Amino acid sequence: MVDVLFVTSNPGKVREVRSVLAPYGVSVRWLRRTLTEPQATTLAEVAGHKLEAVRRPARYVLVEDSGLFVPSLKGFPGVYSAHFLKIWGFPPLLELLRRRDRRAVFRTVAGLARGKERWTFSGEVRGTIAWAPAGSHGFGYDPIFVPEGFTRTMAELSPEVKDSISHRARAMHKVGRFLATRSRAPKRKRKKGFA
Ligand code: IMP
Repeated sequence: MVDVLFVTSNPGKVREVRSVLAPYGVSVRWLRRTLTEPQATTLAEVAGHKLEAVRRPARYVLVEDSGLFVPSLKGFPGVYSAHFLKIWGFPPLLELLRRRDRRAVFRTVAGLARGKERWTFSGEVRGTIAWAPAGSHGFGYDPIFVPEGFTRTMAELSPEVKDSISHRARAMHKVGRFLATRSRAPKRKRKKGFA
């Protein structure tokens, strides 16, 4: 069993990360903390800053940063997704997309640290922005994001279905595979890795 400290203020993320990592023999302890997000242009930069804010050298620390990228809006809201949703909610985004291409991508960058070592893992899911919010599962943009291959929003799909296709799940499977391999490898053969 590998122990990981997941730092986030979002209980929805904790549920999802636990459910994906459990089959890899990774036990997720939750440190409930709001980590400040710096002005940055990429999710990886934000994840890196979040990792720097948590000092627990003796254990694996896991953080993640996610965002909704709409190509017809030049990637907006992207790294500003949390701020945009908090201040404006869905209406301006739906209005902006009335006459634009509604395709979107949800991305997650997970940052993992142990002592001075750092690794990043990414995941994404493509989809479209719905015409109106629907559904009550999940959190954030789930009520307006329709994943590719589905006709319903992420918030209308069950948590199990979200965990089988989501950006976060895809990044966390990489974390799980990495930790499972590393925990089996003899210590002196350990190498840095990126995915
Ligand atoms: P952050 O990673 O918490 O900064 O997320 C940025 C914004 O995207 C926040 O408004 C989150 O609520 C939202 N968000 C993050 N992950 C998801 C998800 O899996 N589904 C829907 N919205 C999400």
